[in-house]
Amino acid sequence: MEKRFLNKIALITGSTEGIGFSIAQRLGREGAKVVICSRKQEKVTKAVEQLKVENLDCLGVVCHVGIEDDRRNLIEKTIEKYGGIDILVCNVAVNPHHGNIFEIDERQWDKIFDINVKSTFLLIKQAIPFLKQRKDSNVLIISSIAGYYPSQIIAPYSISKTPLIGMTKAMGPACAELGIRVNCIAPGVIKTKFSKAFWYDEPIYNDCFMKRVGYSDEVAATAAFLCSNDASYITGETIICAGGANARL
Ligand SMILES: NC(=O)c1ccc[n+]([C@@H]2O[C@H](COP(=O)([O-])OP(=O)(O)OC[C@H]3O[C@@H](n4cnc5c(N)ncnc54)[C@H](OP(=O)(O)O)[C@@H]3O)[C@@H](O)[C@H]2O)c1
Repeated sequence: MEKRFLNKIALITGSTEGIGFSIAQRLGREGAKVVICSRKQEKVTKAVEQLKVENLDCLGVVCHVGIEDDRRNLIEKTIEKYGGIDILVCNVAVNPHHGNIFEIDERQWDKIFDINVKSTFLLIKQAIPFLKQRKDSNVLIISSIAGYYPSQIIAPYSISKTPLIGMTKAMGPACAELGIRVNCIAPGVIKTKFSKAFWYDEPIYNDCFMKRVGYSDEVAATAAFLCSNDASYITGETIICAGGANARL
């Protein structure tokens, strides 16, 4: 495998399983020092062990991205151990509500927007002073095809994924001035715990050209491309990684 991230430090949120873990693994395999995090210590410990089996250089930190002190601690621990941040991947999202959009309560609505949108922006803002010190640094946000074409059964979550596409575009010029590229991935149905309802019993392929679910390592390969210098003239963009599923032209 190519080593596009030698001497790079990558911080990936929500990375003890699923897409975030695969991104950490991929960037690590390509030479990055990786910082992984999630809310539960046991999951952090297990994920670090898995990465260390492959001799990957990594640090695990417990962090709830919705908590300001946790975000600050995550960045501090990264700087303490590795001395900088080259790549920030904002991957966390929650979805506490399934069903009719009008049955959601205010607490669930706030949770979705606090975690999926607000904490994504705040973590990027907190990391900018460190990212701007590095050469060829990158921010990557994980949205969803639901951000383009809302799914009825997870409508509030879908709505929360649209601003991430706008945020990527909106932050592009300010990031470019600092030498930072910012991009986004909109995955389709990827086989993880989060999306079990879409693939467990009867897989829902919607209009997916490839008539199959995607896998975390396929999103991770897209993430590695966007964060590498192979994508050196790409910023403010969202790449759909969805096997051709209906999203946009
Ligand atoms: N899977 C799909 O089909 C699909 C499709 C489109 C987009 N996406 C997007 O891809 C991203 C990852 O999804 P996934 O399917 O990989 O999810 P997943 O398998 O459920 O993994 C979620 C990860 O995030 C952590 N996490 C959850 N809440 C957190 C918080 N508040 N602070 C820190 N860490 C937190 C979890 O660990 P803890 O429980 O220990 O916190 C876990 O490591 C999300 O943004 C999702 O919207 C997924």
